[in-house]
Amino acid sequence: MSTHPAPVAHTADLVVFGGTGDLSMRKLLPALYHSDRDGRLSPETRVIALSRGGLTDADFRGKVDAEVRGSVPVDDLSVWERFLDRLHHVTVDVSADGAADGWRALAGLLAGHEERDRVFYLASPPRTFGPFCRQAAEAGLVTPRSRVVLEKPLGHDLVSAQAINDEVGAIFDERQIFRIDHYLGKETVQNLLVLRFANAFLEPIWNSLWIDHVQITAAETVGTPGRRGYYDHAGALRDMVQNHLLQLLTLTAMEPPARNDREAIRDEKVKVLQALRPIAGTEVDRFTVRGQYVGAGDMPGYLDEPGSTPPTEDSRRVETFTAIRAEIRNWRWAGVPFYLRTGKRMPYRRSEIVVQFKDVPHSIFPGGSPNRLVLRLQPEEGIELHIMAKEPGAGEVTLKPVPLSLNFGKTFTNRVPEAYERLLTDVLAGNPTLFMRRDEVEAAWRWIDPILDAWKAAPALPEPYPAGTAGPAGAHELLGRSGRAWHEEEL
Ligand code: BG6
Repeated sequence: MSTHPAPVAHTADLVVFGGTGDLSMRKLLPALYHSDRDGRLSPETRVIALSRGGLTDADFRGKVDAEVRGSVPVDDLSVWERFLDRLHHVTVDVSADGAADGWRALAGLLAGHEERDRVFYLASPPRTFGPFCRQAAEAGLVTPRSRVVLEKPLGHDLVSAQAINDEVGAIFDERQIFRIDHYLGKETVQNLLVLRFANAFLEPIWNSLWIDHVQITAAETVGTPGRRGYYDHAGALRDMVQNHLLQLLTLTAMEPPARNDREAIRDEKVKVLQALRPIAGTEVDRFTVRGQYVGAGDMPGYLDEPGSTPPTEDSRRVETFTAIRAEIRNWRWAGVPFYLRTGKRMPYRRSEIVVQFKDVPHSIFPGGSPNRLVLRLQPEEGIELHIMAKEPGAGEVTLKPVPLSLNFGKTFTNRVPEAYERLLTDVLAGNPTLFMRRDEVEAAWRWIDPILDAWKAAPALPEPYPAGTAGPAGAHELLGRSGRAWHEEEL
């Protein structure tokens, strides 16, 4: 992670497979426009969208003008037009017999630019990753300066993730492979490393002597309308925990790396994943909770979400909420539970890491103390230290929990960039620190797989919870059993 603004990247050809899809239109193109506007794209850098759509460059530019312009700040029309001029479209269908024509057209566009950085961004389903890489190599498009970016989900279990890694690894070296987890591009996530390793005061208390437990939450208000095809086979564990939540856990729990460099940080992260105590067999019931939202008020249940294929047996069994009590078996964290929780259709949208410190050893005041550090990813990125303070007054001493807050939006005048902007900048600069290495992804699946297996074998369905509520009763019992409660229940 750099502490300086990223320099203007080398000239690159950024080839986006799935370039007219939802991710491209909602996240990638706006992020690239912001980079262009801030002067972080070299003048000749091009964005080449690949899709089955049969669009010309002009059609694609028209589409982006119509669909993206409204979502980004266009204060200077010439900058927007410069951005549109960078865009190209080539029709490529990796599953079709006639794919060769598309690859030839792409080869023609890239020819003569072999000295540029060439980035293949696969914003497409994981089953296309292997075929895409193979066909790109057969078309002679993979140069020594090429990189490939893989979007999640990277497989649906360890075996499928290994197969994808093998297929992509047959064409690209590990140093050329950038596996995206967009949570790593969020400001607070990077700030977590700065907070921990650029300040001396936290390190002595960042361990089981001082910390009671950690809560990592990613709560969403949205449901899954129109997403059943994907979500029935993903569920909250694969969709959010295997990647986003485990990444937050590794950054919270990792040892201080010796250097601020790509391998040193990733080495420490992978050690945390390897130290996770496996949860398998009968333990799964005790340490994990699954829930599925049911209709409440005007909000439909998961099985009734509109715009989806009709529900199947898979739909009934899929979890839209999960909570897990994880443990890290090492010297620093022995005995400190890490509670992970994520869900759709919760009452609030909030992603945060809550580090709950132990209570004072001997209290001379009545009542407990909040003693917690909250790192908020969204909304309102910031850091809060909840402490006990005395309420002003001359009478009896009255204590009140109050937060010491650092709200990034209010403290810094800089625009807070979207996660994808940061990550694309790093891809173009060739910096993989914030991307997942093969061993990290596989270590995460190794821990997730036994939970998935036990859930699959269990006769019970996920516990229902009404849409708009904070998950099923089991989630509260998971903490309640040891006299703890989720952060917001104590607010
Ligand atoms: C994605 C998941 O990776 O992250 C979605 O597939 C989820 O289901 C999204 O809604 C959440 O991202 P964010 O940045 O809105 O927290």
